[in-house]
Amino acid sequence: MRTARAPRGASVRCRRASLSTTTSRNMQSSSWSDHAAKYANNGNGLTLPLLLAALAHITPALDALAAQRAPQPLRILTTCGGPGVEAVLLCKHFGGKHVNILSTDNAEGMVQLARDSFEKEGLQDIAEARVLDAMKLDLPDQSYDAVLQLLGPMLLPDARASFAEATRVLTPGGVFCALTPGRMVIHDVMTSAKRGVLEKAGRGDEFQDLYSHRIMSEWGTPPKLKEQLEKCSAFAKVEAANAPAEMPVSSEAHLDEILQSLWDNPGMAFMYTSNLSEEQVAEFRAAVRKEMLKRRAESGKETWGAEMLGNVVCAWTAEK
Ligand SMILES: C[S@@+](CC[C@H](N)C(=O)[O-])C[C@H]1O[C@@H](n2cnc3c(N)ncnc32)[C@H](O)[C@@H]1O
Repeated sequence: MRTARAPRGASVRCRRASLSTTTSRNMQSSSWSDHAAKYANNGNGLTLPLLLAALAHITPALDALAAQRAPQPLRILTTCGGPGVEAVLLCKHFGGKHVNILSTDNAEGMVQLARDSFEKEGLQDIAEARVLDAMKLDLPDQSYDAVLQLLGPMLLPDARASFAEATRVLTPGGVFCALTPGRMVIHDVMTSAKRGVLEKAGRGDEFQDLYSHRIMSEWGTPPKLKEQLEKCSAFAKVEAANAPAEMPVSSEAHLDEILQSLWDNPGMAFMYTSNLSEEQVAEFRAAVRKEMLKRRAESGKETWGAEMLGNVVCAWTAEK
């Protein structure tokens, strides 16, 4: 794949912004580890449609790199790779061969699940999982053709450090791909439920609209995601797009499964329930459930597809 060269004299490192460090326990690796199994079992309801939509955007760039690399296998690194869902999907995309994937995450529990999944799928020869912090990768320079960070950048205290690390480990002309969540029906419903709970408790002034939270205000649209990547001068070309998806809700029981995945997701807990009492959390959950069932009934469809938007970006390092 032809990519433009980086501007003359451009630094090969990214400028690091002083983004605030998240200290909430909900966002620590121990918390992701504790919730790993539940996230992996139930999380697919929420994240799989987004991952599939994002991979549909990303795979043409990977296919092009794979063709350049052939007969050598394409070397892919995933950071914030969680239980390895995208790694398995990518192995399958490449027909279980011509690819080597290292799936990394800083939560040991997630990495163990990724290993189990690779073994279960018979992918141990081409997929490996390792505990690594996306912001400090213990990997050699220029050792990967592609680095993917799906549903990760918006959770990191210093995402630009992770972009700098990605550009360091990428080969010249390699690609970095990221996915962040955008506007979604489920977020609209949860935002409104949260407002209701806080207002009822006389704490309406504490309400923070999700869309003004830094997770959305800095990462929630393709232009915002592109802007973040463009601050990294080591990328020669950056392309961003929306990845539209739908979260299928087929029955009340199915909705409960999906909602359970949200309650088990430390990122969601951090955004929505970290400042609520137990009673208020129960109230919040009941309100979300009720509204989702109402919307499904109004759709008139047995399986209602709640709209989701992902933001995908592909950024190429300069060729030699
Ligand atoms: C929302 S999950 C996404 C997982 C996977 N990419 C997916 O879409 O299913 C975010 C993941 O980022 C991981 N994570 C958070 N901070 C990290 C860091 N500093 N380095 C590596 N992984 C991190 C969490 O442990 C969690 O598994």
